[in-house]
Amino acid sequence: MQILTDIDSLEPYYGWSCVPTMGALHDGHRSLIRQAVATERPAVVTIFVNPKQFAPGEDYATYPRNLDRDLDIARAEGAAAVFTPAVDDIYPDNGDVWDPPLPAVANGPLLEDAYRPHFFAGVCTVVARLFDLLQPGECFFGEKDWQQLQVIRALANSHAERWPHLSVTAGQTIREPDGLAMSSRNVYIADDQRDRALAISQALSLADQGEKAMRQLLVSANLDVDYAVVRDAETLLDADEHRPQRALIAATLDGTRLIDNAVV
Ligand code: PAJ
Repeated sequence: MQILTDIDSLEPYYGWSCVPTMGALHDGHRSLIRQAVATERPAVVTIFVNPKQFAPGEDYATYPRNLDRDLDIARAEGAAAVFTPAVDDIYPDNGDVWDPPLPAVANGPLLEDAYRPHFFAGVCTVVARLFDLLQPGECFFGEKDWQQLQVIRALANSHAERWPHLSVTAGQTIREPDGLAMSSRNVYIADDQRDRALAISQALSLADQGEKAMRQLLVSANLDVDYAVVRDAETLLDADEHRPQRALIAATLDGTRLIDNAVV
């Protein structure tokens, strides 16, 4: 497996299948890597903890980082290369990094966009930069971050001429055996608090009974609820019974903010 750090020698990798990550790889990432490896093209995993998507006071400094372990995982899953750029390469001091215009789904639904107002601007900037540098073919993003997936799809669709090989494919959410969606931030949850975290996946299974039922379960587990809603699956605006719907939850457990979603 090749380890790529030099942004000026990426041309041989154009058109490859690609899995963008922030590292701290778990089974959710593994499953995306496996999907990418199963394509006709070799797979490149990107590992970059993107400072621009963390607000001051969020966990950028303490975000779990373990490159050696991540490289072992990527290698074991059959990735042909890992791209781990330095912050200065992604955001050069003197360089203009393109800030793409935000798609509507990144600032209308009042979900992650309301609770983490800086977040999608940071995600779109870094993902556009990675797409520019790697000119990838099929790229894989997890359904776990449903709004992010819709934002990246919209970004890719509105700049098809800039990334001619690009397509976006979703990977299903990988869960722990007890139902908790895998997340790099699950390491922050104390063992004796885990039952409370399970209220999130349990609440999603009540989505067909309405938003109130979801919220009640979350509150009874003593979680701080940002939102527990049923929305149009693509626009994330008000649901329409004739179109696909998605239930989405964000809630905080003792300072750890968790998100999850499910089909309704
Ligand atoms: P990160 O949180 O590392 O996630 C990388 C990819 O893994 C994302 O597409 C995310 O949706 C997916 N993923 C996370 N948990 C998953 C799970 N339990 N099951 C399936 N897929 C899962 O998301 C980011 O990084 C960043 O915002 C990024 C897109 C890399 C831009 O910096």
